[in-house]
Amino acid sequence: MNLIKQAHQFSQRALPKRDPNFGKPLDTSHGPILYVEGVTVSFDGFKALNNLNLYVDDGELRCIIGPNGAGKTTMMDVITGKTRPDEGSVYFGQQIDLLNLSEHQIARGGIGRKFQKPTIFEALTVYENLELATAADKRVWFTLTQSLSAEQTDRIDSVVRQIGLLSEVQRPAGLLSHGQKQWLEIGMLLMQSPRVLLVDEPVAGMTGEETERTAELLTSLAGDHSVIVVEHDMAFVRSIARQVTVLHQGSVLAEGTMDQVQNNPKVIEVYLGE
Ligand SMILES: Nc1ncnc2c1ncn2[C@@H]1O[C@H](COP(=O)(O)OP(=O)(O)O)[C@@H](O)[C@H]1O
Ligand SMILES: [Mg+2]
Repeated sequence: MNLIKQAHQFSQRALPKRDPNFGKPLDTSHGPILYVEGVTVSFDGFKALNNLNLYVDDGELRCIIGPNGAGKTTMMDVITGKTRPDEGSVYFGQQIDLLNLSEHQIARGGIGRKFQKPTIFEALTVYENLELATAADKRVWFTLTQSLSAEQTDRIDSVVRQIGLLSEVQRPAGLLSHGQKQWLEIGMLLMQSPRVLLVDEPVAGMTGEETERTAELLTSLAGDHSVIVVEHDMAFVRSIARQVTVLHQGSVLAEGTMDQVQNNPKVIEVYLGE
């Protein structure tokens, strides 16, 4: 079927309810989904991460803050297999040793990462971008000429609503606002049904309203996914945070609620010194 027609029919149609079990193919027992233990990463003798410990629960929304150079991005690089630590262990659930997997295997295996610069296809519509993200074969032409299963179109229906782009579904992604592009990028990650979602500075460059909607989106994703958010915008962190981890010089300086960490003398000292 012609894609535009398909997208049009799709946007006219009543959308099905989201399957509450979607995205939970593994065991759903609670407890940590991510274990980062004793991780050290050195660059020419400088320790970007220094005996870092981080435990993230299944379905949790965790905010990571810390001054520039604290090791936040390096930590994400280690979890996603981009950087290998000198020491320490990194587990996904109880069984899966992430240090034995490639970056690609980790991404396919349920840990999605959103980079700051979106990797959407600007000439394709929102729908087509999501369609492409479902595909095993990433060649654009191949993907767009294959027909989707009912399950895949249902999944697109559900994701496009979740990211608030239902009314934009037929627009080329290049015409979206900065914030909408970021949501589409999150939507493309969601098409892979990740258990863990890593988001680096999601609201950088967004308007106030876009920032608010992003807070709602990330909050809505927690529960079905574990969401780890690195962000500098403190007002934003305050608006979404349950548990906050403060990194400093490659280690955890403090952990707790936003109020607890903001009142922690060590945290105050580090931020005043910035
Ligand atoms: N590839 C690299 N080579 C050398 N030093 C690096 C590299 N990546 C990061 N660093 C250093 O490690 C420290 C932590 O960096 P980063 O993880 O990017 O911090 P953050 O994201 O918290 O600002 C910084 O001092 C940075 O300069
Ligand atoms: Mg960084």
